[in-house]
Amino acid sequence: MTVSVKPSPARRRLLLASDRSDHSSELVAILKKVGDVETISTSEIPEKPAGELSGIIVDINLRSAESVQRVRNKLRAKAYEAVPRLFVLADALHHGSMQAWALGATDTIARPFDARGVLQRIRAAFPNPHDEDFSASGKALTRGVEAAHAVMVKIFEKLPAGVPLTFNDVMQAESAILKAIRRSSLREWLATVGRHHNHSYRHCLFVTGFAVAFAQHLGMRDEDQRRLTRAALVHDVGKAFIPVAILDKPGKLTDDETTEMRKHPRFGFEALVAQGSFPREMLDVVLHHHEFLDGSGYPDGLQGDQISDIVRLMTIVDIHAALVERRSYRMPFTHAKAFEIMEQMGDKLDQQLLQVFRPVALGSY
Ligand SMILES: [Fe+2]
Ligand SMILES: [Fe+2]
Repeated sequence: MTVSVKPSPARRRLLLASDRSDHSSELVAILKKVGDVETISTSEIPEKPAGELSGIIVDINLRSAESVQRVRNKLRAKAYEAVPRLFVLADALHHGSMQAWALGATDTIARPFDARGVLQRIRAAFPNPHDEDFSASGKALTRGVEAAHAVMVKIFEKLPAGVPLTFNDVMQAESAILKAIRRSSLREWLATVGRHHNHSYRHCLFVTGFAVAFAQHLGMRDEDQRRLTRAALVHDVGKAFIPVAILDKPGKLTDDETTEMRKHPRFGFEALVAQGSFPREMLDVVLHHHEFLDGSGYPDGLQGDQISDIVRLMTIVDIHAALVERRSYRMPFTHAKAFEIMEQMGDKLDQQLLQVFRPVALGSY
């Protein structure tokens, strides 16, 4: 008889940045149940974390401009871009939550701590593939997110540097994405991609999640699900050509900046046309996803029948995603509120199609 010895699973590595006089000892005791914790002061946050970090927990006085500034400067480093971050709020009234979201919080927890609740948040915010409860669906989800992320890197980092995006690059990702949402759920997809700190990536990954879930909810055949996945992934490809200062501006855009931003459908269209391998329908989505049925959209002021079905669908998931995403200058809308706002947009959107989207929009949270 052979005896298999199960290797002990790798534990999470958590960095706790605390400016508290008690070094957040109560929190450390809880965190130790799910990972190895290193406690440091905010001034000691390294420029680059040594080894793979599962996440960083920040326990500071969010009302202190000095502490907030110090953490902002530290976490701005490239090495922390993809590291999930959990912020501790002083109390359940969410004092300081605006600062936390502005600092790129993945999630927040509040004092007084309820150990079980904190552990749940940690497991969700910092998933550990070595956990025993990390199931096949978790693996499918991770693979799907990674595949989608790879397309984002090609769009936002390689394309502006002159490396063309090919239709094949996009197609390579679609199976993993479809499988991820089919095996886990839209909700889990959104929770995972919501941890991404680059909001352009996050937005495109949200739109992709909603588009795939909508396609699956509609019972579309596989090939149509793929068409929607591709279109969603690249819909904002033109943003790769918008200056980062505008794209990542932590506040509302000025009129001039808005004019510049509104060039992204055209820029994206031109880039994909130049590439040559993209089907006409993807070009249509890229160029027209900001058109409205009443003619008030851009860039071409198309109306009614001039706007194709796939574009109508993409416009709905695009707006819904934008509303429920967190932005540095405002809290995310709830899914219900976002849906209500879209109903109030009346003739701009295909309201019939919007109603079909309702269970996807509201069932996801
Ligand atoms: Fe867009
Ligand atoms: Fe978009």
